[in-house]
Amino acid sequence: MERFNQLILDEAYQDYLNKNEACEKTRVFCKHNKEHFLDVARLCYIISLESGYYIPKEIIYTCAFLHDIGRWQEYMSNIPHEEASCKLAHPLLQKYHFNSEEQQVILEGILEHRRGADEGLGKIMYKSDKLSRRCYNCTAKMECYWPAENKNMDIIY
Ligand SMILES: [Fe+2]
Ligand SMILES: [Fe+2]
Repeated sequence: MERFNQLILDEAYQDYLNKNEACEKTRVFCKHNKEHFLDVARLCYIISLESGYYIPKEIIYTCAFLHDIGRWQEYMSNIPHEEASCKLAHPLLQKYHFNSEEQQVILEGILEHRRGADEGLGKIMYKSDKLSRRCYNCTAKMECYWPAENKNMDIIY
């Protein structure tokens, strides 16, 4: 987990999170911060083990902590945030010595967290991202655009 722990201390990485925070200051709905990333990482790791995928923990955590780093670009410029996050993540993955195969898996996971996938990291990133939201404890659930049947009213993990 060494590369992951170094990457999340990176100055550029911190800057992206600060930009997300600034854009979400008055947001009443789910935020895209480190708490969300940690929730997604842990869910994704559990689901990976349960599904028999056994994707390395560092790959899962790195993908989860990068998957929404470009959310601020969606607020500011309407760029789909999975694409923005993917672009911002690439140089960070290179800087912290993820090899090309690892980069590909992580970047696909980021892109597919919003689109879903038939298999692999993208499939469980999509699922974990949705499951991470605490609708059962949300004060804005009546205004949220999620259909009632998709809201997480029970704790599964
Ligand atoms: Fe997202
Ligand atoms: Fe997310």
